[in-house]
Amino acid sequence: MAKNKISPQKGSNTSGAVNRGIVVSRSAAQTRALGKAFAGRLKAGDTVFIEGEVGSGKTTLVQGIARGMGVRGAVRSSSFILINEYRAKESVPLFHVDLYRLHGDDISMLGLDDYRYAAGIMLIEWPCLLRRAGRRPSWEIRMKWKSDNERVIEIK
Ligand SMILES: Nc1ncnc2c1ncn2[C@@H]1O[C@H](COP(=O)(O)OP(=O)(O)OP(=O)(O)O)[C@@H](O)[C@H]1O
Ligand SMILES: [Mg+2]
Repeated sequence: MAKNKISPQKGSNTSGAVNRGIVVSRSAAQTRALGKAFAGRLKAGDTVFIEGEVGSGKTTLVQGIARGMGVRGAVRSSSFILINEYRAKESVPLFHVDLYRLHGDDISMLGLDDYRYAAGIMLIEWPCLLRRAGRRPSWEIRMKWKSDNERVIEIK
């Protein structure tokens, strides 16, 4: 099933460890490790769309990415707060956005472009409204529930 092999090894933080492709994660910890490794591929200004049904592990992956960027402290689901900002090492701001509760025209009110001008990295859960508005991300991640502890994760 794996097209390109992705190695979500624990503690791995080498850029190049994560390639575009498909991997099966067998635990939340593995998904976080994958996120941590993936963080090495991100640069200021990048936008990542993270898609997948409720409970597929999007926020879990974001937690790993934040760790990989040197964010300390808790990274929680942002379903009620639309945007959470984290200060990562080297002062690259990390914005965790969850558009689940957003509808139609609200999107322009969000001022997402202002965040982009802040030259941060944006991780966006439920990005369908942005996609419909014609936005294209630097990376797309699709997460699929496979079993209680397994998730299929596609990075492209
Ligand atoms: N392999 C796995 N990868 C990620 N999460 C897993 C895995 N196995 C089990 N889980 C569990 O699945 C849940 C995923 O929740 P999470 O909040 O990350 O999902 P989400 O996609 O962000 O959902 P929502 O759409 O509600 O924001 C967590 O409780 C996590 O511990
Ligand atoms: Mg979430």
